[in-house]
Amino acid sequence: MLLQDRSKPLSVNLPGDRSYGIFFDDLDRLTDVMRKASVRPGKVLVITDTNVAGHYRGRLDALLKNDGWDPLILTLPAGETTKSPKHLQAIYDAALAWKIDRQTPILAFGGGVVGDLAGYAAATLLRGLPFVQVPTSLIAQVDSAIGGKTGINHEEGKNLIGAFHQPKLVFVDPKLLFTLPRREWHSGLAEVFKHALIRDEAFFAWLEASLGNVIARHPDVVPDLVYRAASVKAGVVSRDELEHGERMVLNFGHTVGHAIEKALGYGVMTHGEAVILGMKAAILISRRFHRSLDQARVENVLNQVPLSPIPAALSLPEVREAMNADKKRDRSSLRFVLLKRIGSSYVTHDVGEADIDAALAHALGRPF
Ligand code: GLY
Repeated sequence: MLLQDRSKPLSVNLPGDRSYGIFFDDLDRLTDVMRKASVRPGKVLVITDTNVAGHYRGRLDALLKNDGWDPLILTLPAGETTKSPKHLQAIYDAALAWKIDRQTPILAFGGGVVGDLAGYAAATLLRGLPFVQVPTSLIAQVDSAIGGKTGINHEEGKNLIGAFHQPKLVFVDPKLLFTLPRREWHSGLAEVFKHALIRDEAFFAWLEASLGNVIARHPDVVPDLVYRAASVKAGVVSRDELEHGERMVLNFGHTVGHAIEKALGYGVMTHGEAVILGMKAAILISRRFHRSLDQARVENVLNQVPLSPIPAALSLPEVREAMNADKKRDRSSLRFVLLKRIGSSYVTHDVGEADIDAALAHALGRPF
């Protein structure tokens, strides 16, 4: 049992008046919570996608209207390609044609793609609109909706155009996760394990002990899991909003994970599937520096998350090439997040080429 009081909102503590709460409640309570966070009825531009709209559009529309809101709901195609200049322009066009003003909030009702895109529209329209995050995927509820990173993709790569724009509140209803496709649940678990591994050993032990229920998305474990994983993110962002230091540890597993996604072509493996492989690589490297790290224990947990098969066409040189392209963009040597032990992580540039090659081969189950 995880001892935590989930009735308390989490908070992201930031300078000035930019702190905000992460509220865990039934979707029907959204408008009450918005009022409490001083987001008051009027026009609201809701951005969602076809998957989420299929389940919840009518319910959200009625909820907002019953509380005196005047919603305009823009339903965009589901999928990563929606995080594009074209769909950003569609939001600008709809918002300006509808005569929004600087008090009109944008409400993101969806997963990471919707949150990032809607957030960037909110950051840029009329030099900044109030923004409300109502995340509906596991990745979004524990990670991407928290912390104010917004943006769109460019042909050159993911998230290359963006801004920090913090929401006024994040509203999380873990019950929405029960309509998520199974593959998306398993993929989201990557970020949950990531949060436990980088900062919360007791959470890792709980995930390990409850693993069957965690993987099966059992209702007894879902709310605790979401709350605890989100609390790690809220703490990290409160200490380092703009990623000058500690926030970089949230990229655990992502140096290799991003490169795998890029080498395969986006959408072949999910982000979370690639991050699980990236974490296995980072754990092998960590173990070279920290012999007491229990690699077998961590891998035993990660190996039980069902993943789609690694495509045979994925070539190690292509993954290395994708890693080097990211390195050039950062004007530095490759950056890895490593574990000293479960729950304790740090960033380093000091990983040798041979260690990286061995770790990649290990993660992808290839000979070295
Ligand atoms: N998802 C990583 C971050 O928000 O910093």
